[in-house]
Amino acid sequence: MADKPTKGLADVVAASTALSDIDGKAGRLFYRGYDIHDLAGRATFEETAHLLQRGKLPDRAELGAYAAELVSGRELGALVSANIAEIAEKQKPMEALRSLVSLSGADDPDKDSITPDANLRKAARLTAQQPLLVARFHAARSGGSVPDPDPSRGIAANFLLQVTGRTPDPREVEIFDECLVLHADHTMNASTFAARVCAATLSDMHSAIVAAIGTLKGPLHGGANEQVMKTLESLTPGNVAQAVRDKLAAGEKIMGFGHRVYKTEDPRATHLRRMSAELAESSGDDTYYRMSKEMEEVVFETKGLYPNVDFFAASVYHYLGIPTDLFTPVFSISRMSGWTAHVIEQHADNRLIRPDSEYIGETDQKWKPIDER
Ligand code: COA
Repeated sequence: MADKPTKGLADVVAASTALSDIDGKAGRLFYRGYDIHDLAGRATFEETAHLLQRGKLPDRAELGAYAAELVSGRELGALVSANIAEIAEKQKPMEALRSLVSLSGADDPDKDSITPDANLRKAARLTAQQPLLVARFHAARSGGSVPDPDPSRGIAANFLLQVTGRTPDPREVEIFDECLVLHADHTMNASTFAARVCAATLSDMHSAIVAAIGTLKGPLHGGANEQVMKTLESLTPGNVAQAVRDKLAAGEKIMGFGHRVYKTEDPRATHLRRMSAELAESSGDDTYYRMSKEMEEVVFETKGLYPNVDFFAASVYHYLGIPTDLFTPVFSISRMSGWTAHVIEQHADNRLIRPDSEYIGETDQKWKPIDER
């Protein structure tokens, strides 16, 4: 007889990891022992991905080699290129990414291998290809083309260039790069857990990432940032407080608030709030920032809930010119670094992940032939 389950596996320790750690009471997050407050605005996304996937912050030579590997690995496979237009016509962004990553596995040179070396190479290729997949998907559905990436620039600069079609301001690149750093890894969140469950069957990295993308898509996880923007767009500066109180009184959840682990401010939200304020000022239109601040105050007063990573990310991405339905795909660009690192870690010390369940159905049922049911 199994024990009573913990609903939603809250507080269940499901894996050991050396990748990230959260102190939910103090509101702290660490990547491999580095405080997120020390990395944010200092480490680039490429340095952070190297830290997660390869175990250390790179020195200049290591970063140069990793960046070169990212550039040489970002070319999309033939199967992706042949199908992207039709996928972009029929699928929404996160569905399309799920399909495209699956197709990209077919053209990966290491597709039949899960050795540590093959996993490292695949992790770099997946990290390099994800921004290009999002940009190519967006171009395919809007009938445009994707500007060639600038090999001398990093993932953040090239992504903004390719999605907005304009050369981004250097400060915008720094801010977007910081967003990617903040979203890179987050212990046993739902999509990472999904990736690890898949990897633990000794399935391949692309399969694990497809599971993760399908899991990130939901509005209780990565899909929340898009929902936050939709909420902001549905409100007017004059009706924020009343509308939020009405929603809460009706038992609705306000997207971008609450967290399973943090019992205080999510440390990533601290940085994203600051970035939203800065971009609001430089854009000359602080409407969404002011509305966000008011929402934050009302939700805290009414429910005592703090904003999570998705709340201020919405206005930041909006100010950067990223289309709203690409907010969750942007999350996947960053989290790819963490997911792949978790697959590497899982394969390195594997045991099948197979929990038990509590049976709550009928018992002692008597078999009846079909005509007697
Ligand atoms: N708006 C309003 N109420 C919320 C809320 C929100 N965003 N988040 C949690 N609550 C309330 C719940 O209604 C519940 O209240 P109750 O005890 O009176 O029923 C209580 O807080 C606990 O919430 P619960 O959903 O059980 O917590 P959880 O740990 O299972 O869920 C989240 C965590 C993140 C899924 C949840 O906070 C949520 O749905 N947030 C909105 C979606 C979101 O922003 N997701 C991104 C997460 S980074």
